[in-house]
Amino acid sequence: MDTRLATLLPRLRCPVCASVSLTLQGDRREGAFACGQCSAHFPVRDGVADFLPNGNPALTFAQLTGQWQLTATVYERLWRTRALSLLSGENFPPEREIGLLLDALEPTFTEDGLWLDAACSTSYYGRPIARQLLERGRDASLVVGIDLSRRMLEEARAYAVREGVAEAMFWLRADMSATPLNDATVLGIACGGSLNEYRDARSVLREGRRVLRPEVGRYFIMNQLDPPLVIRAALSAMGGLTFFTRQLLNDTLETAGLRILSAADYGKLAITVLTA
Ligand SMILES: C[S@@+](CC[C@H](N)C(=O)[O-])C[C@H]1O[C@@H](n2cnc3c(N)ncnc32)[C@H](O)[C@@H]1O
Ligand SMILES: [Zn+2]
Repeated sequence: MDTRLATLLPRLRCPVCASVSLTLQGDRREGAFACGQCSAHFPVRDGVADFLPNGNPALTFAQLTGQWQLTATVYERLWRTRALSLLSGENFPPEREIGLLLDALEPTFTEDGLWLDAACSTSYYGRPIARQLLERGRDASLVVGIDLSRRMLEEARAYAVREGVAEAMFWLRADMSATPLNDATVLGIACGGSLNEYRDARSVLREGRRVLRPEVGRYFIMNQLDPPLVIRAALSAMGGLTFFTRQLLNDTLETAGLRILSAADYGKLAITVLTA
């Protein structure tokens, strides 16, 4: 097995019985993870492992749209690269956003390990992290992208292959509310936009706290702050989206056991860097 997957394997946790005795049958393209304790199997197809082989948890409308091929195809091209300029009301090109991400994670790049792109869609954050690991010769390091949507994960992998960073990445279809990783196993977590979309953001943040390495670990979160009341009410009721004021966001992060290292707001855009 390659050294990068060898880094992942002892950090994986069975979502059925929570044991850490998973083995990989086959290879990272086609095969299955098998649990040595409860004998559950999680198939790997086209480089994406399915840790929800029996179906999705109940999806909100916003989560459902992420399952569609059309959303996966147009998401990054039409929306993602422009989102921060629209949310902040200032010029916020992708290089500026990715610069902030990599600066925040810089202290984590001093050793080999595991990074997590949380609810990754097309791995907009995971790909530049993988590039850093490759450029720094971190041969035993891996970025794991987790999302509920197989279509998004397939799109993420296709982008990563085109950009030459796929070897430092792997994708899991899984629920961030029940992250299939063991405690204190992740050096860096990147979460772009998804805090607004989780059905239960608080449980996802507690899971982040659980898997992040205390003190050395870094958690980078970009999310949208409260829109006007009418829009918020409509989006929450129809789409299942959740919005935070900066005060509520800080309280929620701290209640999850995370410590805020920096917090910066640009219009309705919030960027927060945390540790456990
Ligand atoms: C707004 S997109 C964010 C994408 C990405 N982080 C980025 O920066 O471009 C939200 C994504 O979160 C995923 N998602 C929502 N709830 C999730 C959950 N509980 N576990 C895993 N993925 C989830 C959706 O499938 C969707 O792809
Ligand atoms: Zn098991």
